Amino acid sequence: MTNKTTTPTMAPKAGVIGWPITHSRSPLIHGFWLNKYQLAGSYDKIPVAPENLETFISGMRAAGFSGINVTIPHKENVLKLADKTTAEARAIGAANTLWFEGEELIAGNTDGYGFITHLKKSAPSWSADEPAMVIGAGGAARAIIYALMREGVPEIILTNRTRSRAEALAENLLKQQDLSDKDHHPIKVIDWEEKDAALSRVNLLVNTTSLGMAGNPPLELDTAPLPPHSICYDIVYAPLETDLLKSARQRGLIGVDGLGMLIHQAAPGFEKWFGKFPEVTTELTQHVIDDLA
Ligand code: ATR
Repeated sequence: MTNKTTTPTMAPKAGVIGWPITHSRSPLIHGFWLNKYQLAGSYDKIPVAPENLETFISGMRAAGFSGINVTIPHKENVLKLADKTTAEARAIGAANTLWFEGEELIAGNTDGYGFITHLKKSAPSWSADEPAMVIGAGGAARAIIYALMREGVPEIILTNRTRSRAEALAENLLKQQDLSDKDHHPIKVIDWEEKDAALSRVNLLVNTTSLGMAGNPPLELDTAPLPPHSICYDIVYAPLETDLLKSARQRGLIGVDGLGMLIHQAAPGFEKWFGKFPEVTTELTQHVIDDLA
């Protein structure tokens, strides 16, 4: 009889760090998939105060983590704490997903992936050959514009209440190596007051501001000038149908809500940590909607 010692294999452990972390919907999504695919593993909310971020990140391996999601206020700060960052995370200036490759901790950003995957799924008729308009210039806008540039959208009309923020975002993204094309600068910043007049030129309108979110005023925009084949995408998901989406749908346009982006951005992380690329189904979407209610 051989005297074999077996090392117990630990179930993969992941979670989401933030401060505060109480409102995160990520455990609901990853918990659903772990259960659906009957995988051993865990995904928890982990409150990490800003002053503890560095200690937490450097101790992740020893604590048995396969990786984590990162939310406010850590999305920018984790970039300098990881061993490597993806081109996408560097361009966006923030990471939302961390995983190990060998001994190295990699910081990536899946927000742009979530945005574009949900767009293609919800509006298969969308063509990347026509101009798009993005409203807002925060972190979400950065990820979305990056994704649209990667798709080759010829012109991205960008408008923000604070014009200087839009200009800074455009300048920064155009400097990114993997996007730079000296002869073509797709981002065109326009004044906030000019947005209505520019709508007739786009086949995709994206609201990335917090306007329309429960507790905030609506985004006041007349969707009438949008061409009949255009798509109206609002990244707000509470409520699921904002006034903007309602007005677009009343006109017969395709409306895309923000919930799918939230769910799709979770999939690449799940695959990295638990080894299975998960499906985004109507059952999962309903599961999250029930929680939002
Ligand atoms: P996120 O990183 O989630 O995109 P953010 O950085 O706070 O969030 O950005 C929020 C966006 O909503 C910004 O574009 C902001 O415009 P400013 O840059 O001018 O602040 C926009 N926003 C928020 N409240 C607004 C309002 N009342 N009117 C117009 N835009 C508003």
